[in-house]
Amino acid sequence: MANEEENVGNMKSQLTNLFYASLRAAFPHEPDVVPLVVASTTKFGDYQCNNAPGLFTKFRRNGTHYMNVHSVGQAIMMNLPPSEMIESCSIGGPGFVNVKLSNNWIAKSIQKMLIDGIGTWSPRLPVRRAVVDFSSPNIAKEMHVGHLRSTVIGDSIARMLEFSNVDVLRRNHVGDWGTQFGMLIEYLFEKFPNVEDVNETAIGDLQAFYKESKKRFETDLAFKARAQKAVVQLQGGESKYLQAWTQICEISRKEFDKIYELLEVHLEEMGESFYNPYIPKVIEALSNQGLVEVNEGARVIFIEGFKIPLIVVKKDGGYNYASTDLAALWYRLNEEKADWIIYVTDVGQQQHFDMVFRAAKGAGWLPDDDGTYPKASHVGFGLVLGEDGKRFRTRSSEVVRLVDLLDEAKSRMLKEAKEKQKKRLTNGIAIQWSEEELEQIAKLVGYAAVKYADLKNNRLTNYTFSFKQMLNCQGNTAVYLLYAYARLCSIIEKFEQNIWELKTTGLLVLDHVDERMLGLHLMRFSEIVEEACSNLLPSVLCDYLYNLSEYFTKFYLNCQVVGSAEETSRVLLCEATATVMRKCFHLLGIVPRNKI
Ligand code: ARG
Repeated sequence: MANEEENVGNMKSQLTNLFYASLRAAFPHEPDVVPLVVASTTKFGDYQCNNAPGLFTKFRRNGTHYMNVHSVGQAIMMNLPPSEMIESCSIGGPGFVNVKLSNNWIAKSIQKMLIDGIGTWSPRLPVRRAVVDFSSPNIAKEMHVGHLRSTVIGDSIARMLEFSNVDVLRRNHVGDWGTQFGMLIEYLFEKFPNVEDVNETAIGDLQAFYKESKKRFETDLAFKARAQKAVVQLQGGESKYLQAWTQICEISRKEFDKIYELLEVHLEEMGESFYNPYIPKVIEALSNQGLVEVNEGARVIFIEGFKIPLIVVKKDGGYNYASTDLAALWYRLNEEKADWIIYVTDVGQQQHFDMVFRAAKGAGWLPDDDGTYPKASHVGFGLVLGEDGKRFRTRSSEVVRLVDLLDEAKSRMLKEAKEKQKKRLTNGIAIQWSEEELEQIAKLVGYAAVKYADLKNNRLTNYTFSFKQMLNCQGNTAVYLLYAYARLCSIIEKFEQNIWELKTTGLLVLDHVDERMLGLHLMRFSEIVEEACSNLLPSVLCDYLYNLSEYFTKFYLNCQVVGSAEETSRVLLCEATATVMRKCFHLLGIVPRNKI
């Protein structure tokens, strides 16, 4: 189907529309053929349409008057409606139609974006509302680097969807329910017989509290029995137990919020407990459909292709992680009316989500075909490894605390910035930054480095956490990109005339080959964001941003900006690059500065 609404920023979708028309005209008997348009990797064009080989094979089977694949390509090319975006077309070896875009059109489109804003380049997705379930740490446990990955990747996905005009529900599915609360509550009662004494400072380190209570649970039978009873009392809604539970959650929440504030990530907490009241109804509905069976005392759903079934009610009658996720999925589809539900966790949970989604398909909540909506997707990511290649731990083999990581990145940046400043001073150059500004910059760059290192990797692979690498000012790092952006801003600043005025009075032209390459890459922004969104891969956007900075460097090296005859046009090209870079940073959750 051709896009109903023309997306002015998306060259690929505009070309797809043109080829759609051409295919209809050239082969009226083949109404189902969908244009296969891709960015070209050859020097013959900027894009190519790859339909000819497939069509020719099909025609040959059914008897055809086309002599060869080349003539099929020819027919596609000849039927292209005239368009100002196309400079020329040619046929490549196996019938591919190469398209060279018009310089004039690229320049005009970029200038239009400068005037109308980059919002006009936002992708169009067939989604109205999405739930992004991310971060989701567990109460009374520390947030670890895995949760950092989930937080950073989830935030970027949410940002890209929001930019694409999707209504995004950012959900923090915290682990705030389950049997562990029995022991936590019982231990709380034991330590603080007087409820008034319970507060954050009294408990201190909640993680240590968790460990101590677990130890009691494992070693003291009487305590264990009380803890198990406490779970029932909590689930029965007894106020004393609910109050203790609330207190424990509140302390954890404060800790989590500190991190979200540092990372500037916004989330709305709807923990496991929220869905608890919905579980019985959902399981009953699944049972009525004949999907739930009794197996070894538990109630389960068997799923084709999986050896073990999905347990939805445990032997003891209690609910578990899967029962909660089924109820949450039901709620998100039916109450929140989301048409795309995205879960960001480590790949270790892949099977759990596969089974939950398959159960939902079996129940008819989701269509079988993953290409249609509503849809549920698991965004899995690999482990974070230490430089020794093993699971990332501290020396005392503890889980690495997130706050410490962020602090370390910042203090390393600060040290470097101070040294740089000292050097300037010894060379007789005036001090650039106050202490406060240095702090600010170090924080901004340090945090950005941690986020970017997480985002740029293909998320499915494990990744090695290395401060040295992520804080390097060369190569594909946030530090390099933030400096490149600041340099770009200073070039634009040198230009005295008002940029705003120039956008309408100046004329952008792309005559030099490096101007054209940069312009073409700028124009690809919208389709890249669309690809990153559709495949849930922020790394695609990181690669784009890094390449953009490389194209810019090349342009700047070979094309004089300030003081040249092409000054106005080139400053506009700089401004467009800065605009697109800024948006990329924003979509990755990074805040750039004009000066660093
Ligand atoms: N709390 C879980 C963990 O820390 C992640 C929850 C992910 N979301 C979900 N709906 N299951 O591993």
